[in-house]
Amino acid sequence: MTTMSRPRVLSGMRPTGPLHLGHLVGALDNWVKLQETHDCFFAIVDWHALTTDYADPSALRGYVREVALDWLAAGVDPDKSTVFVQSEVKEHAELHLLLSMIVPLPWLERVPTYKEQQEQLREKDLNTYGFLGYPLLQAADILAYRPAAVPVGEDQVPHLELCREIVRRFNHLYGEVFPEPQALLTKAPRLPGTDGRKMSKSYGNAIFLSDPPETVGTKVDAMLTDPARTHRHIPGDPEICPVFATHKIVSSPETVSWSAHGCRTAEIGCRDCKGRLKQSLSAVIGPIAERRKQLAEDPTRIDRVLDDGAAKARESAGATLALVRDAMGLGR
Ligand code: TRP
Ligand code: SF4
Repeated sequence: MTTMSRPRVLSGMRPTGPLHLGHLVGALDNWVKLQETHDCFFAIVDWHALTTDYADPSALRGYVREVALDWLAAGVDPDKSTVFVQSEVKEHAELHLLLSMIVPLPWLERVPTYKEQQEQLREKDLNTYGFLGYPLLQAADILAYRPAAVPVGEDQVPHLELCREIVRRFNHLYGEVFPEPQALLTKAPRLPGTDGRKMSKSYGNAIFLSDPPETVGTKVDAMLTDPARTHRHIPGDPEICPVFATHKIVSSPETVSWSAHGCRTAEIGCRDCKGRLKQSLSAVIGPIAERRKQLAEDPTRIDRVLDDGAAKARESAGATLALVRDAMGLGR
């Protein structure tokens, strides 16, 4: 299939820290597959990171590079996909501004993440114009490329819905410029962190793609298990154990049944179970670490990838913006 005939997709990730296993199984593995069948655009959305972390941007630039490195190491291939940094493609900002003319404020205020995040991140003042506009900026990211679909997790569905509503309003006012992008829901298996809560950098329970094997080992040793198994001879319930939940994602079916059976019958101890998990994790993270090391040998590589990606993204977004300006009566 030539690139031209492939359906286009766009997705993005906020550079808020190094990527962990949750990003791998919840997004990256899927992106790597999509590259074979779709015309893919992947954006590191640094403006979105500023909507919540504007008060201290000191880590942002470093995170952008780390995310790019993590993506490539995980198998995102810049020869197949367009990989770029949002703030290097100003068309996103222009489209955000133009869409802001037509989006009713209540549409933004009723996006569930708006109030939720304000509650959850109390220590930050999120009573800002930029934070309210978060989903509109996301709509601009998407619509600049007029993609057929947007691969995202369940949590992003309200944002996609808003984007589709904006498309309908835009097309109604100014004529058919945008197709309605479909959500391409990533079936992400539940991946708990080492403490059993959802894996997240801010909970300190994440296994990072960039963790060296010793660190992974220490984290697995510290992982929560079925608390009823206080002794080796007491059987356990794998279904409530984060070690087992992680096996289900990274281990072979044989190892998964070995773990489940051994746990329920007390034929294995948690130490055995964790030992196998370390092996499975290193089989997943090892090749990523290897590629990461190769990439790090040439620091200009990431720059070239992102320069090329931004150029390609600008070309595509530029074509959309020409249509949008025209439809909205701009220019002479
Ligand atoms: N809001 C998305 C998230 O938190 C990130 C994002 C920004 C995005 N722009 C996007 C995702 C465009 C898909 C498409 O995961
Ligand atoms: Fe968890 Fe494995 Fe221990 Fe069972 S044996 S409680 S699955 S670590």
